[in-house]
Amino acid sequence: MNEFISHTQVEEAAAAVRNLTKYQPTIGLVLGSGLNSLADTIEDADTIPYDQIPHWPASTVPGHTGQLVIGKLEGATVLAQQGRAHYYEGHPLSQIVLPVRVMHMLGVRTLIVTNAAGGINADFTPGDLMLIKDHLNMLGIAGNNPLRGPNDDAFGPRFPDMIDAYTPALRDLARETAAANGFTVQEGVYAYVGGPSFETPAELYFLRAVGADAVGMSTVPSVVVARHAGMQILGISSITNKAIPDPAPGTELSHEEVLETGKIIIPRLTALLRGILQKL
Ligand code: HPA
Repeated sequence: MNEFISHTQVEEAAAAVRNLTKYQPTIGLVLGSGLNSLADTIEDADTIPYDQIPHWPASTVPGHTGQLVIGKLEGATVLAQQGRAHYYEGHPLSQIVLPVRVMHMLGVRTLIVTNAAGGINADFTPGDLMLIKDHLNMLGIAGNNPLRGPNDDAFGPRFPDMIDAYTPALRDLARETAAANGFTVQEGVYAYVGGPSFETPAELYFLRAVGADAVGMSTVPSVVVARHAGMQILGISSITNKAIPDPAPGTELSHEEVLETGKIIIPRLTALLRGILQKL
């Protein structure tokens, strides 16, 4: 496969999805590590395994199911991505973001992205939810941006703006919805790193110094492309572990810990997402 995805390839993938669902989704939902179960509550769902969609990047990570679930949730017609592909799995970034381009082609105009992230901000506790207000695209800054390569003018401009990429009104709605459900959410800057190794203490000192509140290995490429296409975006991080440069001696971080804490967060994240969908 070419490094860059063409408009025709996006059309082929979108056509395959259209053929396999009766719905016309308007809201996209990306479910991250350990958060897949949310899609199981979508009503009267059409389920499409990723391997039935041409050009779709497969996800090989435990905790990522690998299918689209399209149907009704709180009255909204949603397309949920149960599992996502990551850069560290070997796909070029332009392929990782194909799902967002397909969603846009299908009529999705609002993207809700969730992920598991390490909490850099000392005020964050594992189990917290953080609304993403901005991001640090560490790969993008270094030259590896999902929009690298020929620009598809049918999607968006060569040089898209990234101010308020995370729609302020959606963050307001999320904050109000959390309050109505009796809990608070954190808010902060998400630093996107390539992974799959977790950060060294020196890297965490660095990320903290440049203003990161949380760190993770996903979401940002999709957000850049969704923003390129003019979509409304809400990003929510589940803080699954502390990502601090000076942990207690003997502390070790594992993917299992990330998945376990992800499970604990699910009831609140579900309440939050359902409440938001009711108002969209
Ligand atoms: N670092 C990077 N990605 C992550 C982390 C982390 O600490 N936790 C969950 N995803």
